Amino acid sequence: MLKKIFKWLGIILLFAIIGLAITVSLRQNVKYTAPYPDIHASTDSAVIARGKYLVYGPAHCADCHGPAGTEEQVNAGAEVPLSGGKFFPIPPGNIYVRNITPDATGIGNYKDEEIARSLRFGVGVDGRAIFDFMPFHNTSDDDLTAIISYLRTTKPVSNIVPKSEYTLLGKILKALVIKPVGPTGDVPKSVKPDSSVEYGKYLATSVANCRGCHTERDLKTGAFIGPDYAGGFVLESPVDPKYVFHTPNISPDQKTGHIYDWTEDMFLARFRKGKLIPQSPMPWGPFSRMNDMEIKAIYRYLKTVTPVERKIEKILVVNK
Ligand code: HEC
Ligand code: HEC
Repeated sequence: MLKKIFKWLGIILLFAIIGLAITVSLRQNVKYTAPYPDIHASTDSAVIARGKYLVYGPAHCADCHGPAGTEEQVNAGAEVPLSGGKFFPIPPGNIYVRNITPDATGIGNYKDEEIARSLRFGVGVDGRAIFDFMPFHNTSDDDLTAIISYLRTTKPVSNIVPKSEYTLLGKILKALVIKPVGPTGDVPKSVKPDSSVEYGKYLATSVANCRGCHTERDLKTGAFIGPDYAGGFVLESPVDPKYVFHTPNISPDQKTGHIYDWTEDMFLARFRKGKLIPQSPMPWGPFSRMNDMEIKAIYRYLKTVTPVERKIEKILVVNK
């Protein structure tokens, strides 16, 4: 009797595993759709200048899309080519950063609307769900236009970036869990740069990714799992994986907020100093070149977010 039950359980389990394996393999190339934003590159020099400022400054594209080993140059302000090739080794696999120069091996054959859709809706040009490394879902039409306009003016660099390599876990997540991440609410057509809380919020969430790093996230899916700005996101150093960072709590909590007693001038002075811990993944170099108004706007916004009591015991852990 018992033997029979086991036999049947075994058969059911076997079918379940086969079913899962088939589903996972069939869904490896699952294609998503999303609308194409009505965004077209411009040749206006002011628009291109704004794009360049964003790419090497607050939006720090160069920090990820620069060639491997150029972290220090990016930090020092060099305009490295955005030819891609680095990868992020996360539990789902090695996710390669793409070549975004206007070469045939980069974005040369992509339409402006396709690039805009990737950034806004997380649906790649090939229809894949893009891993949520980039925070540009609610970036304004004008700023996306500026960024794409600037990319079009850069020197084409031929560099074939390998496809991302997924682990078994990554394949399962890709088939069943990971979906494209798109905007929340209405995306603004343009946002006026000034020192307001509103503009600070826009920068912190949709351009500079303060929220994306200073909020705890699941490294398997990229999902936000902690309260906004309360820190605790675990990041390996991009220059030496021995160094592991737990991002500080930058919410205005009196007891545990890392910057609770910083004045606006102290915050500004900290940003001007750039990177102090050489292994830090925070793009301090690009941020140090943001203008005063923008840094102040971010400070003012961070003062208004919900305070969360959460002690981050150790910001830097060095593994042997
Ligand atoms: C934190 C790192 C990071 C930053 C910052 C970043 N990117 Fe990316 N980008 C990635 C990764 C990783 C991928 C590949 C994701 C994937 O394939 O799932 C990618 C992919 C892309 C793609 C390819 C989309 C496609 O359809 O294949 C474009 C275009 C792009 N990024 C543009 C930009 C621009 C423009 C900026 C700055 C405004 C930027 N990225 C900032 C990490 C980053
Ligand atoms: C790629 C992830 C990442 C991004 C993006 C990021 N941070 Fe950080 N941040 C970190 C890490 C890791 C640390 C701790 C290491 C260090 O101090 O460099 C940190 C430290 C800090 C500190 C404490 C610095 C000190 O000297 O005590 C402040 C303040 C801060 N971040 C604010 C911000 C703001 C504001 C933004 C957006 C403009 C931002 N961060 C974007 C990862 C990030």
